[in-house]
Amino acid sequence: MESDLDLQHSIDRAVALLNSGEVVAIPTETVYGLGASINSPEAIEYIFELKGRPRTNPLIVHVANLEQAKSLFSNFPAELEVLANQFWPGSLTLVLPKSNKVSDQITAGKNTVGIRVPNHPILLKVLEQTGPIAAPSANPFERISPTTAQHVSNYFPKGLKMVLDGGPCQAGIESTIVGYENSRITVYRLGAISIEQIETLVGKVALHDGTKSKVVTPGMSKKHYAPQTKTIVTKNITEFIDKHPNAKIGTINFQHISASNAFIQLVLSTSGDLKEAATNIYQFLHKLDELKLDYIVIEPLPDVELGRSVNERLSRAVHL
Ligand code: TXA
Ligand code: MG
Repeated sequence: MESDLDLQHSIDRAVALLNSGEVVAIPTETVYGLGASINSPEAIEYIFELKGRPRTNPLIVHVANLEQAKSLFSNFPAELEVLANQFWPGSLTLVLPKSNKVSDQITAGKNTVGIRVPNHPILLKVLEQTGPIAAPSANPFERISPTTAQHVSNYFPKGLKMVLDGGPCQAGIESTIVGYENSRITVYRLGAISIEQIETLVGKVALHDGTKSKVVTPGMSKKHYAPQTKTIVTKNITEFIDKHPNAKIGTINFQHISASNAFIQLVLSTSGDLKEAATNIYQFLHKLDELKLDYIVIEPLPDVELGRSVNERLSRAVHL
């Protein structure tokens, strides 16, 4: 573990780099991000390059507090402010019309911007000294998001001046993205805040299913978050293993290991806690992906609360 002095030194270095127009990998409570000041167009351009991300896919902006968010939105409906008050700092990204402080480069030409106040003490310290930071998840396009500093270094062994290590991500999956369409709260991406948590506060919300209709949130495009290893999601792991007797298989179960042997068997939460399962899922996928398996076979989670968010991610990880 880093001493307080080392940590302070790392924070100071990250702030100095960001303020001088460099890209720094930053910890958040959801997943690690590739961060750049919203006032550094070259650094933002470099993020797209590093990720291999299409220029049509906008970045979200991370701010230290609600006031900063307000200065970047041109309009903030009261209903969404209720959500911000409840969930910030936290894993909720709000998409609203942008103010002129946000460039078209960040929003990929859209007139809206996605913003959140992350719930990570180290990143909040950084944001207080840098101002708004644009940051997509710190993975190459279509790969699994990183949940440790090591995952980021593995993805980008070269090309980054600094990975600010904030420990393993507590939420472990990306933020929930919420917008406002035709005066209705609309969820664009399921994530670390459940729809149930949101609906408790503001009543029924719309869900924009990007897999069926035009892509509003490019993160909803069908194939995303995929391991390199062939990945299967099935309720019957035992049957799959029996049918592939010679294959090297790693399994991920929700609560209990299935009754058959595999090369490696992981359990997301022995107590059946969906939040713990969400925290572990990417970590496990990264781990299994390193083992050069023939298959990763995963049991779907109960389709409620964060189980629904994880299942949605798994549906993108599968190799059809
Ligand atoms: O948890 C997270 O949200 C992480 C951490 C680093 O904060 N970030 C993250 O960023 O997941 P990214 O870029 O990997 O995913 C953000 C998604 C993208 O799919 C992007 O298309 C969508 O948000 N998005 C950003 N701005 C948008 C906008 N104005 N309208 C619609 N979708 C937007
Ligand atoms: Mg991403």
